[in-house]
Amino acid sequence: MPTVLVLNGPNLARLGSREPDVYGTATLDDLRTACEATAGELGLSVDFRQTDDESQLIAWVHEAADQRLPMVLNPAAFTHYSYALRDALAMRTAALVEVHLSNPAAREAFRHNSVVAGVADGTIAGFGFGSYRLALRAIAELLALPPP
Ligand code: DQA
Repeated sequence: MPTVLVLNGPNLARLGSREPDVYGTATLDDLRTACEATAGELGLSVDFRQTDDESQLIAWVHEAADQRLPMVLNPAAFTHYSYALRDALAMRTAALVEVHLSNPAAREAFRHNSVVAGVADGTIAGFGFGSYRLALRAIAELLALPPP
């Protein structure tokens, strides 16, 4: 069963209490459960992780590159300014879908740019947990494509 790394950046461990008007009241554990359920339906296994630490996130991206693991990534605020994360993702060796719970394009101007989007296969934003479910479906479809 193929494994997908589902990586979450800073402040996402606070889901449930963090700005519930923007992010809802469900927790990161609820998100993990939702991802595991969708992955199960798709015949995938998820390795679900969260960190507030940029160097840890980059180490996980390197691990994904070395092991040819596809990724679903919510870079959180790193989305908007971490060139180090972007450079790490540029070394990826498997599919990458960027996700956001909210729709950054409909929020403050500083959220409108993603330095990650240009090195991802695609971005899904604005659907809450649905963004992750759709991203896992996109990964399953990319995995089913014949190799180039
Ligand atoms: C976010 C959007 C980012 O702008 C923000 O910094 C986050 C969460 C989202 O999932 O909507 O931390 O990535």
